[in-house]
Parts: sequence; C-alpha cells; structure tokens
Amino acid sequence: MYKSMDETHEVIPSAKRLVKSLRDIGYDFSTAIADIIDNSIEAGASEVDVSVGFYGDDSYVRISDNGNGMSKEELKEAMRYGSEREYGEDDLGKFGLGLKTASMSQCRCFSVASKTNGEISSYSWNLNHIEKTNKWEILSLKEETTIELINAPLSDHSGTVVLWESLDRIISFKDPSGEAARKKLISMCRELEAYLGMVFHKFLSGEISGKNLTISINGNPIQPWDPFARNEQDTKTLSPIKIKFVHDGSQDKIILQPYILPSKDKFSSPEAFNHLSGPAGWNQQQGFYIYRAHRLIQSGGWCGIRVRDEHTKLSRIELNFPPVFDNAFKINVAKMRTQLPIQIKEAIANAIRSPVLLAREYYDGEKRSTPTILNNSPKNNQNYISVPPIKQLDNIASKPGLPKMFTFDEIEQKANELASGNEKEIISRIFRHLRKNLMEGEK
Ligand SMILES: Nc1ncnc2c1ncn2[C@@H]1O[C@H](COP(=O)(O)OP(=O)(O)O)[C@@H](O)[C@H]1O
Ligand SMILES: [Mg+2]
Repeated sequence: MYKSMDETHEVIPSAKRLVKSLRDIGYDFSTAIADIIDNSIEAGASEVDVSVGFYGDDSYVRISDNGNGMSKEELKEAMRYGSEREYGEDDLGKFGLGLKTASMSQCRCFSVASKTNGEISSYSWNLNHIEKTNKWEILSLKEETTIELINAPLSDHSGTVVLWESLDRIISFKDPSGEAARKKLISMCRELEAYLGMVFHKFLSGEISGKNLTISINGNPIQPWDPFARNEQDTKTLSPIKIKFVHDGSQDKIILQPYILPSKDKFSSPEAFNHLSGPAGWNQQQGFYIYRAHRLIQSGGWCGIRVRDEHTKLSRIELNFPPVFDNAFKINVAKMRTQLPIQIKEAIANAIRSPVLLAREYYDGEKRSTPTILNNSPKNNQNYISVPPIKQLDNIASKPGLPKMFTFDEIEQKANELASGNEKEIISRIFRHLRKNLMEGEK
C-alpha cells in the first residue's frame, strides 16, 4: 500500500538499456511511418511527403509535413520519451512515445526539425551517443549535410520534418549499397504505399471534415484504399448497429457498419475485384475494420468471435471507437493491435450474426437478384438494405440445404447441455484450446 509519507528513493532507468529495448516494441517499417504521420495529422498537416533515399550506409528516410510545427521548447518536450501534453477528444497520439520509439525502431539516429512563426529548431537522438554516455541526452544538429536535408522541406512553410539515418534495421546487408539492399528498400516502399493507403484512407479520400490529407512517397501521391468498396454499384451498405458502451466513467455508442462487398462477377472490373482483396487476400480480409478516431488500427479478422470462412468473405464490418475507450480496446503503443472489450463482445457477436449470414447468402447466390432496398443515397449511390431480425434469418437459414449458423458460444452451450459425466470437463478443455487457437490465428 502506498502512503504519501513513505520515504522515497529515485531510481532513474538506464538510458542505454531502455532506449535499446524500446526499439523492439512491435513496429515495422510501415507501422513506424504511420505513427509519425499520426503526429502530422494532429498538427493539422494537409500534406505529408515521405522521401526515401538509397545511398548505401548513408541511406535515409525523411517524413515532412506542412502542419503547425513546434517552437524550440515544444520540440524539446516532444523529444522526451513520455512527453507530456493534454490530449483532445479525437487526437491520434496517446503515450508520448511514438515519435521516439517508432523512429528508433528503424534507425540508430533520428533528427527532428520544426518550423513555426518563421523559426526552425532541431534536435536529434543518437544511439551511439546514448551507448557512450548512458544519458538521456538529445543533441543539437551539427552535420551540415543533415541540416540541409532536414531543413529543405521547410523553406517556404511551417511544419515538421523527421529524418531517419543509420538505417540499421532497414539496410542490414553485408553490402549496404548492393542490389539486395536496393531491392529490399523498393519492396518496403511498395508495402508502405499499400499500408498508408489503407490506414489513412478516410483522411486521403477527404471524408473526415477539416482533415484533408495527401501523402506522397518520393513525390508520388498515395491513393486511398477503401476496404468497403463504397464506389462499387453493387456494394451493400447494411443498417448500422449501435451498441451503448460505458467504461471508466465514459459513455458513448460503438457503431458497427456492416457491408457486403460484391462478388467477383458483380464488381465493375476484374482489376477492381483484385484490388479490393487487400494486402492479405479476400479470405483473410473479411471481418472487422476497427478505427480509432478514423484511423484504421485493425484490418480484417473476427477478433475471436468467428472463424474466417470462404462463404463469408464478402462481409466486412466497420467499427469506429473514440480514444476515450483506448483502455477497453487495449490499444498497443504501435497502434497495430486492439481487442474487442470483453463487456460488449457478446453483444457484438449477436449483432453481427444477421449481417454475416446475409453476406453468406449473397456469396451462395441466394439473394443476388432482389435486395431489399431501403433508400438510394443520392450522395454515393449505395444500396442501403435492411437486415432482417435474427429470428427471421433463422427461418431463412433453416431452409433445407442451407445450414443454420451458430456462434462459438452457442455451440459450447449446446455441447454442454448434451454432455454428461466427465464429458463437460473435456468439452470445456477443448473449447479453451479452440479459443486460444482462434485468438492466435486472429493476431
Ligand atoms: N509532426 C509534428 N508536428 C507538430 N507536433 C508534433 C509532431 N510530431 C510530434 N509532435 C509533438 O510531439 C509530441 C510527442 O509525439 P509522440 O512521441 O508521437 O507522442 P504522442 O503523439 O503520443 O503525443 C506530440 O504530442 C506533439 O505535441
Ligand atoms: Mg504520436
């Protein structure tokens, strides 16, 4: 038990050990850059440019924005591990770590220059210096080539530039100037393009008011990738489902928006169908698309509620949660993973049964000809169709030839009802294994 009168002894962490271990908290090249871009969006940037220069050991990655920028004092605070500031309702930041941990996960030295009110300030973190001194010290920039490179994008506007050098995690080849290193960097840039187009698609398409964004890689603008194919004529937008959620004194609605994507022959072109498959392919990309403040955190997967199934691959469900529910959704620092809050998991499982079943029927060709159109939105010409209540769907699903679908919990409950003697214990063990297995498969 802690008492404020207790005698205290300050124990400062070892800079060398902590900075090094924080390099491995789960970022990869794309997720690290996305975390840097979160900061740009929060700073009101409308343009972000990622420049990647391949020069062997002198290769670099530079992310520049035209946001509000920071003063010298603000930048110094921003460079602190665990920087302090007040967060707004829709802010993408959270831990005060992203700028540092995302950068250091990819390089040994990163510098930040920021311009506001016509003044540029800059600092860097250098792992060589930390290893030598074991101190939490940032450096002023001295190297002229670095200063030139980092200041260049700020010549005619305010904003912030993050420069990664000594890319030990990216160019880890015997011959850093060789063909293998060059090819790897090119393929990482391709992956990056797809990842950023997906994660920030709502900002790139301009659908978030006041947050229009362009992101380019070496001058080429990235196109948004809309997982719900909302510009396809035959995409079905089902009625949204609202679930009330109270957590830690905050109350809000979690809105689930189910979609059924068109089957291959209903897409406007085979290319459009292939494009919509997403990075992991149609089967893997079914399921939840979980957004935090409009930024995509999880793309596809059923969060342990269902298993991925070829028959339900046209089902994609949008779920947006506000940052006040971060703890309940267990968001991690790299913003790559989240979990459905245990308190509403069952409600969500029940709520998505009918939309998923409907998606399955579309896949099976049952309903393609006559969707129940509620209204035609003139804005984007989508078909809004009503999802019948679960009871009605159960009837449809009980037709001969179409097996009824059960949730995982329902199967376990049914099995328990039928079990006798020590069978219950065996069932419980099997389901425990299955759940663990499914959760792992979903990660
Ligand atoms: N591109 C940027 N433009 C303006 N301010 C920034 C930028 N990047 C970082 N900052 C400032 O630095 C702080 C620390 O960033 P970060 O380490 O990513 O933590 P977090 O985003 O969780 O607060 C931010 O809260 C913000 O005030
Ligand atoms: Mg951040």
